[in-house]
Amino acid sequence: RDLVFVTAEAAPWSKTGGLGDVMGALPRSLAARGHRVMVVSPRYLAPSAAKRYEGIKDTGVRARLNLNPPGAKADGGGGVHEVGFYHLHKDGVDWVFVDHISYHREGTPYGNAAGTYGDNLFRFSLLCMAACEAPLLLHVGGHRYGTPPGLPYGQNVTFIANDWHAGLVPVYVAAKYRRHGVYREARCVLALHNLAHQGAHPPRTFNSLGLPGEWYGALEWVDTGDNGAGGGGGGGGGPGGGARRHMQRVPTINIMKAAMVTSDKLVTVSPAYAWEVCDDKGEQGMGLTSLLRQRMGDLQGIVNGIDVGEWDPRTDPYIPRNYHEGSLGGKGLCKAALQGELGLPVDPAAPLLGFIGRLDFQKGPDLVLGVLRPLVAAGCQVVLLGSGAADYEEAFKAAQAAFPANVRAHVGFSVPLSHKILAASDILLMPSRFEPCGLNQMYAMRYGTVPVAHGTGGLRDTIDDVNPFRGEGFSRAGGMMGANDADRELEELFEKGLAWGRPTGGRSADDPSTNNQDYYEPFQDYFGSGGRYGAVADGAEED
Ligand code: GLC
Repeated sequence: RDLVFVTAEAAPWSKTGGLGDVMGALPRSLAARGHRVMVVSPRYLAPSAAKRYEGIKDTGVRARLNLNPPGAKADGGGGVHEVGFYHLHKDGVDWVFVDHISYHREGTPYGNAAGTYGDNLFRFSLLCMAACEAPLLLHVGGHRYGTPPGLPYGQNVTFIANDWHAGLVPVYVAAKYRRHGVYREARCVLALHNLAHQGAHPPRTFNSLGLPGEWYGALEWVDTGDNGAGGGGGGGGGPGGGARRHMQRVPTINIMKAAMVTSDKLVTVSPAYAWEVCDDKGEQGMGLTSLLRQRMGDLQGIVNGIDVGEWDPRTDPYIPRNYHEGSLGGKGLCKAALQGELGLPVDPAAPLLGFIGRLDFQKGPDLVLGVLRPLVAAGCQVVLLGSGAADYEEAFKAAQAAFPANVRAHVGFSVPLSHKILAASDILLMPSRFEPCGLNQMYAMRYGTVPVAHGTGGLRDTIDDVNPFRGEGFSRAGGMMGANDADRELEELFEKGLAWGRPTGGRSADDPSTNNQDYYEPFQDYFGSGGRYGAVADGAEED
């Protein structure tokens, strides 16, 4: 069976978090196993993102998508909209990008500094309808686009709809296509990455989805306070706190709910999350627990994997020194380099703790901020990276100002910095309140960094109570130091580096007097002609 993933994000073209990473990696590995795989996502062609979409060809195929209810007068609903299809065949995958002007904004796929876009339901309805058309219309068929034209994927596909943004795919298949005899053999899987976001909208929006009126009931959802939440879960308030406080039985249309009742199978991104969302004493179902329990027989948890090519300390181009479990001195060097880059005291013995994540109540950034004082008192250094809710962003900046010699906060999203933090840290903090899967803990373990995590969801499934790299290394004094030749070399290097000019504490990363280039200079001969990035063999590097 051919697979058609539908997703709001796919790295490297779009990514705000784990969903983008998984959608960038999972389709490739399925293709490598011999499946024919298409991924349909929007073409977010903001001026600043144009470069990312270079080389992705216009198929010339256009579709006019009708978001009016069938039989309605022309102005009776969501209107008719033309979308384009762009295509790239890469790593065995047909990457299909749906083009519409509403995707061309600066910002994330979901909003900008002013907040969430008001027309997301429209934007993602278009994505879903376009995704239903793609396997029928596009002559990409797993061949390189152009020569020779392939065959369309056709009707016998399995759609994998990811989260609410893709949740109208199974609904359209059931309500629109099947009644015209199309997609009778198609199957739909709903992949649940995060139930805190359900796509709840006012009932009147139903008319702009292009669905027959009798389908209203499939989308309608009345929050009865059933185990918590309801649709919200926004930053700071706690999952659905507001909905529960008022206990109002206000009907909404809920895309996630509609997808749950129309999909053939449901998967969560870890086994633990699958039972947590069905636990009627818990709150992880976010108001949808009873529905999920009804579908338990079709629900399975499959833990996410990671892209072991991108996340590999032996080859990672973003870190100043490549290393592996036999050459942990390289990890120590990454630590020294990051300390220097951020203007923290370069001290191999100071435990370095990292936090990387969306600044959202889910991820518990407030819990990290709450323990900074004792951590700092214990001599720890803490490096924070993330963006999201404005109050957390401010609190991160305030923490750096309050503890200038120990804490660095980078508000924003930086792929290179996230790699550097994972390589440099001794410990990665993941105090998530809930975590459908979580990827950073898996990246951390691949980098010999010990995750310290709340035992929830995928964190339970992926973290063993043993140390990464088979338990070696962490218990050594000073983190990773002192075990082998590379480490001895590193110790000398530290002396050299420190003698040459140890960065003083208190300088912030964006202080112009922090000259990162200079910082690396004493390490030049250690790196050899390879410069400061890239692998330099030390013999131990090769497997
Ligand atoms: C969401 C979840 C996260 C998961 C990711 C990818 O971001 O919050 O736990 O790892 O999706 O599935």
